[in-house]
Amino acid sequence: MLRQERAVARCERITVAVDLREDWPGALAAAGHDPAVPTVWIAEGLLIYLPEDAVELLLARISAQSAAGSRMGLTLGSRGVIERFGADAVPGSAASMWVSEMPDDPVGWLAGHGWEAGSHTLRERAAAYGRPISAPTQREERPGGLISAVRR
Ligand SMILES: C[S@@+](CC[C@H](N)C(=O)[O-])C[C@H]1O[C@@H](n2cnc3c(N)ncnc32)[C@H](O)[C@@H]1O
Repeated sequence: MLRQERAVARCERITVAVDLREDWPGALAAAGHDPAVPTVWIAEGLLIYLPEDAVELLLARISAQSAAGSRMGLTLGSRGVIERFGADAVPGSAASMWVSEMPDDPVGWLAGHGWEAGSHTLRERAAAYGRPISAPTQREERPGGLISAVRR
């Protein structure tokens, strides 16, 4: 689609291959990331694949690399989603690799790391962007899966 539209990037894109359970901030710094400048972080469909201690460490490291005004977008696995779709429920699916769900209070959890966060349902966000979801699926009704946050 982008080629067809002759879209031209307005930034330089640098990929950094890392295992996010390991010490990635050094690799990011070596690739030119400047923690003094506000950063946008996006973790879509990622945290659910990391054990809870790795999620905690990842967030601590992100927070340490985030100047005030940095922004973050996260998707979190709803409570109970692993039981319903995970390895025991549907062996061999991508969901069988899910290992962690969202904390009970994601907004409070992020506040503890220095972020002012809001949590939304997919349905709310879709409507806000003018692309409402019409199908009444249970999954989209579940609260708190989408997080947007600003570093204080
Ligand atoms: C459902 S996909 C999310 C895709 C992503 N939103 C995108 O647009 O490319 C899950 C991703 O998590 C990555 N992932 C899972 N565990 C990881 C880890 N320990 N370190 C780095 N990436 C990891 C996988 O490689 C995969 O690309």
